[in-house]
Amino acid sequence: MAQFTLPANSKVQPGVTYNTPGAKDAKVFKVYRWDPDGDANPRLDAYEIDMASCGPMVLDALIKIKNEIDSTLTFRRSCREGVCGSCAMNIDGTNTLACTKYIAEVKGEVRIYPLPHMPVVKDLVPDLTDAFAQYAAIEPWLKTTTPASGRERPQSPAERQKLDGLWECILCFCCTTSCPSYWWNADRYLGPAVLLQAYRWIADSRDEAAGERLDALEDPFRLYRCHTIMNCTKTCPKGLNPAKAIAEIKKLMVGRR
Ligand code: SF4
Ligand code: SF4
Ligand code: FES
Repeated sequence: MAQFTLPANSKVQPGVTYNTPGAKDAKVFKVYRWDPDGDANPRLDAYEIDMASCGPMVLDALIKIKNEIDSTLTFRRSCREGVCGSCAMNIDGTNTLACTKYIAEVKGEVRIYPLPHMPVVKDLVPDLTDAFAQYAAIEPWLKTTTPASGRERPQSPAERQKLDGLWECILCFCCTTSCPSYWWNADRYLGPAVLLQAYRWIADSRDEAAGERLDALEDPFRLYRCHTIMNCTKTCPKGLNPAKAIAEIKKLMVGRR
C-alpha cells in the first residue's frame, strides 16, 4: 500500500528558539535546519529578530541570523539583487528568491524551507546536481554548421525579440521544484526551467540545430510529462512563463509531424 507520510527520520521536529530581549519591532523567522553530519531529524529553529536593525528582505534577515545569532546556518546567496538565482528557497509556502522577497509581505512569522522535493545538502541548500546535469543535456550553447564569417551572426530586431521572456531566466529552479510532474518524475522529466532553456535555443534564429534539439525532446517523459498545471509560471520570481515555452515546443512538435 502506498505510504503518504514522511519516513520517521525525515519528520521535522521543533528546534531551538532564539529570543532577542529588548527588541523594538520583533519578528520571528522559523528556519528549516538539517545537518548531514549528525543522526538527528530536521528541525525548525525559531529566531526572533529586531526589525529595527534589519534590512527589508528575507535574505537580510538570514544574513543577520548568520552574523549575529547562529553562524552554523547555511544558505546560498551571491548577487543580492535577483540575478544569480542562488538564494532560491521556499518562503511562506512559495518558492522564490530570498533577496527579492520583502519581509513585510509575510504576515506573522516567516517560515523558510529549502526548495521542495530536492535532496538537501544542509539547512537551506538543495542539491541541484541532477537539475544542472539535465541543463547540460540540452546543450545550452549556439550550434551552427555554417562557417563563421569573421563577423558576428546578425539577427533582426524581430528575431531578437523572440528571445525576450527566455534569456532572463536565472536558473533558480523555483519553477521546476514547484512542478508536481517533476516531483514524481525528476529522473526522466526535464522540468520547466530546463525546457524553457531548451526553447531559448530552439527559438534563436542564429542556431542551426532546432531539428536535432526537437528530436532529443521527442520522448514520453522528457517533454510530455508537462500537464499544464501552471505552478511553474505562478511561482517564477522573474515573471517568466515556462509553461508557455513548453507549449511552444509542443506546437513545433505537432507542426513537423
Ligand atoms: S505547466 Fe508543466 S512544467 Fe509547469 S508546473 Fe505544470 S506540469 Fe510542471
Ligand atoms: S523560469 Fe523563472 S523560476 Fe524557472 S528557473 Fe527560470 S527564473 Fe527561475
Ligand atoms: S542572491 Fe542572487 S538571486 Fe538572490
